[in-house]
Amino acid sequence: MNSTLKRTLGYFKPYWKLLVISAICSSIVGAMDGAIAYLVEPVLKKVFAGKDTFIFMLVPLGIIILFIVRGLTRFTYDMTIKLAGQKAIQDIRNSLYSNTILQDMAFFNRKATGELMSHMTNDIAQMQEGIGQVVSGLFRDLISASSLLGVIFYRNWQLAIISFVVIPATAYPAQLIGKKIKNASGRSLNVMGGLTSILQETFSGVKVIKAFGLQERTIERFRAVNLEFFNQIRRYIKYESLAMPVSEAIISFGVAGVIYFGGSQVMSGRMTPSEFFSFIAAMVMVFTPIKKLQSSYNLLQRSAGAAERVFHILDEHRDIVDSPGAIEIGRSAGLVEFRNVSFSYGGETVLNNISLSASSNQMIALVGPSGGGKTTLVSLLPRFYDVQEGGIFIDGRDIRDISLKSLVSQIALVDQETTLFHDSIANNIRYGKPNASVQEVQEAAQAAFAHDFITQLPDGYNTSIGDRGLRLSGGQRQRICIARALLKNAPILILDEATSALDTESEQMVQKALDNLMANRTTFVIAHRLSTVLHADRIIVLEAGRIVESGTHDDLLTNSGLYSRLHSLQFSDKETAEVANEP
Ligand SMILES: Nc1ncnc2c1ncn2[C@@H]1O[C@H](COP(=O)(O)OP(=O)(O)OP(=O)(O)O)[C@@H](O)[C@H]1O
Ligand SMILES: [Mg+2]
Repeated sequence: MNSTLKRTLGYFKPYWKLLVISAICSSIVGAMDGAIAYLVEPVLKKVFAGKDTFIFMLVPLGIIILFIVRGLTRFTYDMTIKLAGQKAIQDIRNSLYSNTILQDMAFFNRKATGELMSHMTNDIAQMQEGIGQVVSGLFRDLISASSLLGVIFYRNWQLAIISFVVIPATAYPAQLIGKKIKNASGRSLNVMGGLTSILQETFSGVKVIKAFGLQERTIERFRAVNLEFFNQIRRYIKYESLAMPVSEAIISFGVAGVIYFGGSQVMSGRMTPSEFFSFIAAMVMVFTPIKKLQSSYNLLQRSAGAAERVFHILDEHRDIVDSPGAIEIGRSAGLVEFRNVSFSYGGETVLNNISLSASSNQMIALVGPSGGGKTTLVSLLPRFYDVQEGGIFIDGRDIRDISLKSLVSQIALVDQETTLFHDSIANNIRYGKPNASVQEVQEAAQAAFAHDFITQLPDGYNTSIGDRGLRLSGGQRQRICIARALLKNAPILILDEATSALDTESEQMVQKALDNLMANRTTFVIAHRLSTVLHADRIIVLEAGRIVESGTHDDLLTNSGLYSRLHSLQFSDKETAEVANEP
């Protein structure tokens, strides 16, 4: 059995009870098909030969009873197998989601969001279609085909052999077509992934599209991919439509053979007409499940294309995991050391032999030209990526020896992307500490200078972020994010351009709040605006992945290196110079 199918069926294991019930019921349904075909012979014999009116009366009644029983078992069978299918799909969807969200940052850098969404929606829907229809039909059709085949062989095995030499002949083209369908399905889902990516990007970037007047081009791009999707789909429509006529054409040879040889046997008296009719009834009936099996096979191939894509994500290897002996640590003392750290994202070296250390109560500022590696440096700390050389130590312990969970609990991060979730403002702040009381939430918001604007919103802290009409400014969003990080109260705080959207006044206020909160905390601040970092205990200047200077503001100014150059550029105008000269 093919491994994709085997793996898919593995998801049915927990629901074996439902499968057993449906197997029993489908055996009954299938066996009844055989019984009906078999009964044609005795009934016809009695009716035609004996002119038995009693049997004649019984037949319609029997048919009704037979079909009622068949209907009931079929209902149970359908229900149970479909429920099992839905449950299996639910499990697959859950594990796909958790496996995706657990992936390394590098994975998300590699994949477009829309593509990931497409796996969750389109691929799963395609698998669902396959599982829903195929698994439900497969077993019943197998049983009913085999019971009918039993009747066929029982009635006349020589005839049966003649008619069934054609079955292997249909198998080969069927398999060929199935393979084509599977490939076409995989390709069409790929294109669908691209389509979803365009949707995701253009809907969330609609402002840029409007501002640059890119509507026409976006529409064209969408049309092109949509057409590509149609072209892929068209292929498998072709193969799918081809499957049935091809197998029917081949089967017609068998039917012709049976009628010819069977007819001559009846004429020569070696077989009774009733036997022949029973045989023919079984023959005619068996084509339905066989044809269904074939289209199930094709649908199965189509779903296999989707399942392979899903399993591909499930098999995605993660590099950043707990090491075997990883330990849990309590609240860290905040001693952070980078020892000869070098790092690249896979291509060029982004950080080159970085060594620095920071302890509690210290504010370390990272400054320097764009692309210098500041964000990269701090994202190594929560192990978004692992270093290639050297090591990072917290309280003297390599972060790779600490469990990810307790590592992450040491760090609070605010970056420039002010990510808020569709939830109330209070709950968004609570992401920092899920069980925080209202009081704690408000204190954090006050420290982040967010409390005042939040209380002015119609629903205050209960205002939902996703609500229509609620448009927070960039600075307001930043303050909510800062509140969230403050609430986490972690010993290590990372602020990556976290105050860039604030006006000078609120930035100073947030800075003051942070000054208070920096007690017992190691803080890394990244800022382009140098006024933010004047009071840092140490300023580290990163350029092209190297530390080119480090020291206090005054040290660096007297050094007259890169920092003092940047500084004189930023403070050349008098107004900001005043801010800079504040104690
Ligand atoms: N996810 C990534 N994959 C590959 N390369 C990356 C990735 N992120 C950043 N880089 C590269 O690494 C280098 C350092 O980028 P980084 O974001 O650390 O700079 P930065 O100092 O934070 O810059 P900025 O001040 O503009 O925020 C850049 O050359 C950038 O192109
Ligand atoms: Mg950056």
